[in-house]
Amino acid sequence: MDLGLKGKRAVVTGGSRGIGRCCALGLAREGARVCVTARTGSLLEEARAEIDRAGGEGWAVASDLTTREGCRRVVDETVGRWDGVDILVNCAGAARMADILELPTEVIDEGLGLKSYGYLRMAQLVIPHMKRNRWGRIVNIAGGAGASPTRANIPLSVSNIAVLNMTRALSDAVSGDGILVNTICPGLTKTQRARDLQRDKAAEEGRSVDEILAQIGRKLPAGRLAEPEEIAGMVVFLASERCSYLFGSSLYMDGGDRRGIP
Ligand SMILES: NC(=O)c1ccc[n+]([C@@H]2O[C@H](COP(=O)([O-])OP(=O)(O)OC[C@H]3O[C@@H](n4cnc5c(N)ncnc54)[C@H](OP(=O)(O)O)[C@@H]3O)[C@@H](O)[C@H]2O)c1
Repeated sequence: MDLGLKGKRAVVTGGSRGIGRCCALGLAREGARVCVTARTGSLLEEARAEIDRAGGEGWAVASDLTTREGCRRVVDETVGRWDGVDILVNCAGAARMADILELPTEVIDEGLGLKSYGYLRMAQLVIPHMKRNRWGRIVNIAGGAGASPTRANIPLSVSNIAVLNMTRALSDAVSGDGILVNTICPGLTKTQRARDLQRDKAAEEGRSVDEILAQIGRKLPAGRLAEPEEIAGMVVFLASERCSYLFGSSLYMDGGDRRGIP
């Protein structure tokens, strides 16, 4: 199936590692031009080179997306290079776990600052360029935690649920301009971040992180955790011309974990 991604201009936030890097590579394999952004320059440079090798054209901008200036620089540099942006994959996230009874509200701010305000700023900045072409795709990576708050995961769950609300509202605002905004909510996915989030639990229980991840996976209907490439496959489809009738939706890729309907 030709996804119609050849030559399309994409920005992938959090594109230096984990799910974001897999998304960038997936788009590159379809012939897209991909700007990856995150803070750590060395990892970004690796990702950029990998994009080139995969058949796309890579570009990397190191930036902290918790600030408006940081977001603006990424979009300005991408537009300066390729004269526009067709696709935005919002994937940068770094919220920390902390028990709600001891949670400093600054930790919630941090989570929201990057994941929901950052996602919104990036969307606001690329939308005028997408409107010019009357075509665009915005794919947000939220997370299953948005619909499953626990005492330990509030910084993650509030930033994810904010992304879901924003997806619906943004979609309504731009659907008439040929711009589709959708969200994927992954369940626990095998990345460094997933490992880091289980480190305290592993230490407390005297077990290895791998053991804990495998146990969580076995309890899912899927019987295992997601690979980042599986999430990226859906992102590539949602970013493509073949995805043409999905507006403001949130897809749960959580191995069947979610009990809610739909
Ligand atoms: N892995 C999971 O189990 C899982 C489950 C559900 C949802 N998600 C969501 O999926 C997304 C990606 O997760 P992942 O597991 O792939 O995480 P990851 O491997 O830790 O990657 C996070 C990315 O975000 C970048 N980043 C962090 N802080 C940033 C900042 N202030 N400014 C710009 N970039 C920043 C990181 O690079 P630098 O640190 O160099 O900036 C990195 O590229 C996140 O939104 C996460 O919440 C993940």
